[in-house]
Amino acid sequence: MSTPAPTVRTAVDVRTATDSDWPAVELIDSVGFGYHPVEADLTLARTLTRTEDVVLATAEDVPVGVAMDLGFDLTVPGGAQLPTRGVTWVSVVPTHRRRGALRALLTELHTKIAATGAPLAALTASEAGIYGRFGYGPATVLDTVRFDRRFARFRDSTPDPGGVFIADAKSAAERLPGIYDRWRRLVPGAQSRPQAHWDHTFADPEAHREGASALFFLVHPDGYATFRRAGGSGGKEAATVVDELVAVTPDAHIALWRALCGLDLTVTIEAHLHADDPLRLQLTDYRLVRTTGRADDLWLRIMDVPAALEARTYAADLETVIEIRDPFLDAGGTYALTVRDGRAQCRRTDATARVSTDIDVLGSLYLGGHRARTFAAANRLSAADPAEVAALDIAFGAERPAVLGWGF
Ligand SMILES: CC(C)(COP(=O)(O)OP(=O)(O)OC[C@H]1O[C@@H](n2cnc3c(N)ncnc32)[C@H](O)[C@@H]1OP(=O)(O)O)[C@@H](O)C(=O)NCCC(=O)NCCS
Repeated sequence: MSTPAPTVRTAVDVRTATDSDWPAVELIDSVGFGYHPVEADLTLARTLTRTEDVVLATAEDVPVGVAMDLGFDLTVPGGAQLPTRGVTWVSVVPTHRRRGALRALLTELHTKIAATGAPLAALTASEAGIYGRFGYGPATVLDTVRFDRRFARFRDSTPDPGGVFIADAKSAAERLPGIYDRWRRLVPGAQSRPQAHWDHTFADPEAHREGASALFFLVHPDGYATFRRAGGSGGKEAATVVDELVAVTPDAHIALWRALCGLDLTVTIEAHLHADDPLRLQLTDYRLVRTTGRADDLWLRIMDVPAALEARTYAADLETVIEIRDPFLDAGGTYALTVRDGRAQCRRTDATARVSTDIDVLGSLYLGGHRARTFAAANRLSAADPAEVAALDIAFGAERPAVLGWGF
């Protein structure tokens, strides 16, 4: 499809999309992200997102930008599942950039999100400079690692529980969703995963394999790994590229890593680990697993401060008054936050704030993925008394590291 070119100088309007807008939405996104979606991608997007949750920016009635949101439950520290709106497919055509189309789209989208009552909004960001102004903060940390599996020796103290078996795609499709669902209920940042997303995982479009093999599967009663074989010809070393490793228990975690390291005829293993993953400490050579990249993965925006803060559990008692600035939605305020035995009470108050920060910083602290003391050191969280920062820092700790379940 093509669209007649609107004049660059005309004003941008925003409206909710209709079913007939999908081809324009897909074209804008395809150009914005520089990829050609395959049928499975389009089916996924149209299944996960209702047309009424798509907003369009138009100039002279021609679509020039898009943003949409979809729903899932997101696990927060302590295991509560919070209704969350995932913002996705955000793009503006190159002829109409930097004229406020994104701001107009996100203003409209967040008005709609606020109306759903969801206490959290989430996204993954193409560039880290865009979303802070809209109240989103990076909430998880994901490392990319690489190591030569031929030198991987497990310490004598490392368990060898076994229990891993190989599975074909059909058997994996039956087993993985149940294991994932047990895992995501324990892990802050992980979301419920709709069947449409599993269908896309198992459709495994060739266009997304970057020249590697189709997916292989290792399954344990309490975990699984999906991976591809890359390289191995034209002088390139053969590599195992781990797509997902989900472990409900420590036994499943180490059993799966032992099985991956047992893939003879491959040299390197590439995978993603959260910063507290024990793998490095389970090997005799601490330096073997090298971090080659660090990414922000999940970004969070707190839509309802009291509801969000009362839903999670805390690592220590706390009594503070915190000012949260939220210029984008003009929804900031000062809150009395009291934690006893892990549970919080959060109420608006007229009392003087003892701690002050922006809503995007609260998003970064919320899952325990970043620390209050680090934001204080960065001059992005302030308190007259350093003891207030120390108390907040400890209380916001989570019992499990935050990990995004699936990208959207
Ligand atoms: C990112 C994108 C949507 C921005 O659209 P846009 O209409 O040019 O953005 P706006 O003019 O509404 O800008 C809104 C604000 O964000 C800022 N901004 C926009 N793009 C930015 C970028 N890439 N990096 C940093 N800041 C950016 C603007 O300076 C502006 O700031 P202000 O309102 O505080 O003055 C557009 O460049 C795009 O489609 N990029 C390719 C696809 C993409 O990366 N999408 C995001 C997916 S997560």
